Amino acid sequence: MGVLDGKVALVTGAGSGIGRATAIALAAAGASVVANDLAGDGLDETVGAIEAAGSRAMAAVGDVRRRDDVAAAIEAARAGFGGLDVVVANAAVSIYEEFEHQAEETIDLILDTDLKGALLCAQLAIPELRRRGGGSIVFVSSVQAYVTLPGCVPYAAAKAGLVAAARAMAPEVGRHGIRVNTVAPGTIDTPMLQRDLGGMNREEADRFLRQVEAANALGRIGRPEEIAEVVLFLASDAASYVTGTTIIADGGYLTVKKF
Ligand SMILES: NC(=O)c1ccc[n+]([C@@H]2O[C@H](COP(=O)([O-])OP(=O)(O)OC[C@H]3O[C@@H](n4cnc5c(N)ncnc54)[C@H](O)[C@@H]3O)[C@@H](O)[C@H]2O)c1
Repeated sequence: MGVLDGKVALVTGAGSGIGRATAIALAAAGASVVANDLAGDGLDETVGAIEAAGSRAMAAVGDVRRRDDVAAAIEAARAGFGGLDVVVANAAVSIYEEFEHQAEETIDLILDTDLKGALLCAQLAIPELRRRGGGSIVFVSSVQAYVTLPGCVPYAAAKAGLVAAARAMAPEVGRHGIRVNTVAPGTIDTPMLQRDLGGMNREEADRFLRQVEAANALGRIGRPEEIAEVVLFLASDAASYVTGTTIIADGGYLTVKKF
């Protein structure tokens, strides 16, 4: 018996990193998974891994910035698996640039993907979750909601927005049996991290990673599977009295004084 037996989950940005690990973890716990990502972004590998392990999954290619694409992913869950119980709004982009000179298009891309896209997923899912008598919405935020590096103003704003959104949304939907929470990961070894390091030469990247490790109570960066386990907890009935809150899964990064 898995803790999500009979449940259906939508995971956005499931073609890579934390989204893929989450889709796989929810499926291993018994959920049927609709895995969303942009075209060509690793969905086949995610769906293949889930099916190879004997669970059910389908790909829903789409852009979380587009209302129609989000609606189509939710409809795919209803038509393919009979409904929807869990939404993990994980898709995001991270672009480090000096804010003073950042193009408006870049600000829009980050806010529309990381904040509005997640809100759209939650909003369009609510009627479907209500039909099932309740459910769980999990936003994937970041420690950047609390402490930031230079060059990430819109990203930090979006991630802080998700923390506030879960808090604001919880009392609106709680009486329908819907819980809304956020997980805020620290530095996790994913393709996003590798891209973020891409602007550095190897020496700079190594130095940065050593600094992150040193500024972390556990002395190491995290694995996507370690975030997936937190999402699984929030998605499951084990978290039945948890709503409107954020679990910070950062290896203790926020606990360590930085100077
Ligand atoms: N890796 C880290 O250190 C870290 C730390 C804190 C928070 N996070 C958050 O975790 C989540 C997952 O990040 P990751 O590190 O696995 O990144 P990743 O880049 O490996 O995966 C993100 C996925 O989102 C998809 N995506 C981007 N825009 C999309 C859109 N408009 N519609 C649908 N899909 C879209 C990408 O194609 C990609 O597959 C993100 O919300 C990120 O902000 C990551």
